Amino acid sequence: MISTITQSPPSSTFSQGCLSFVRAMSCGGSRRERLWSNPSIVRFRRSLPAASRPRVLVVHVGGTEIEMIDLLHNMQFFIVAGHETTALLLAWALLLVANDEAVRSRARAEAKAAIGNRPATADDLARSPYIEQILQETLRLYPPVALLARNVIAPDQIYDREIRPGDTVFLNIYSLHRHHLWWENPNAFEPDNFTPQKVAARDRYLHLPFGAGARICIGANFAMMQAQIILTTLLSRFSFHPAGPAPTPVMHMTVRPEPGVWLEFTPDA
Ligand code: HEM
Repeated sequence: MISTITQSPPSSTFSQGCLSFVRAMSCGGSRRERLWSNPSIVRFRRSLPAASRPRVLVVHVGGTEIEMIDLLHNMQFFIVAGHETTALLLAWALLLVANDEAVRSRARAEAKAAIGNRPATADDLARSPYIEQILQETLRLYPPVALLARNVIAPDQIYDREIRPGDTVFLNIYSLHRHHLWWENPNAFEPDNFTPQKVAARDRYLHLPFGAGARICIGANFAMMQAQIILTTLLSRFSFHPAGPAPTPVMHMTVRPEPGVWLEFTPDA
C-alpha cells in the first residue's frame, strides 16, 4: 500500500526511502487494476464467482461484452512491448560483450560447451548461467524501459511532498540501477553482480527492468529466454568487435543507442 511510505523517515535516509517508495508503488495492484483495466472486463469478471472467473484474454476472445477493437489494442501492445524492448536488450548486450574481452571469452566458452555447433533451444538455458548474468547486468545498465509511471488516485505523502490524486509519479529506473549507494562501481559492466549469491543478498526492488508487483512485465520470462537463446547461439558461432562510434543512450519511449550499435562479426572457422 502506498500508505506504508508515510512514516516520515529522516532526510538522511532518502535513498532508503526511495527504495520503500518503489516497493510501495509496485504493490498497490488492486488500485491500479481499477485505473488501467478495461472497466467492462473487470465488472464482468467480478460478477462471476471467484473460482470460475475466466482469464482476461478468454473474456476478450469470447466476445461477450468486449469490442474487437479492445482485442486488437491488446495484441498491438504485446507486439510493441515485446519487440523493441528485447531487441534493445540484445543490442546493448552485444555491445557490452564486444567491448569486454574477459567477459566475451568466458561467455564464448560457456556457449560452445553448452551447444557446440547447433542453435540453442529452451532446453539449453540452464547450461548458460553466465550468459543470463550478462543479460541481467545489461538490463541494469541499459534498462529498455527506464521510467515507470503511476497515476495517483488517493492522497498520500512522501517525506514533505504532498501526493495528490491526478498527479503522475515517475520511477526513474535508470538512476536506481546506477545509484552509487546501492551498487559498487555502478557504471561498470560486471555480470558477476548477478551471481545467485549476490542476487539472494540484494533487495529485490533494486533491479526493476521488468517492474514488479501486480503490473510486472507479462513477457519477462519469455524475453529473457528469447534473449539468452539468441545470445548463446551468436556467441558460439561468431567473434565480434566494435566497428563504429560508441553509442550514447538516449531516452525516447525506450533507451536507444544512438547512432546505433556498430559491430563487426566474424564467423568462427
Ligand atoms: C527485455 C524485454 C522487456 C522489458 C525490459 C520489458 C519491460 C516492461 C516493464 C518495465 C513493464 C512494467 C510497466 C509498468 O509497471 O508500468 C512491462 C509491462 C508489460 N510488458 Fe514488458 N518488457 C519486455 C518484454 C516484453 C515482452 C516480450 C512482452 C510480450 C510478449 C511484454 C509485454 C508486456 C505487457 C503486456 C505489459 C503490461 C503488463 C500489465 O500492465 O499488466 N514485455 N514490460
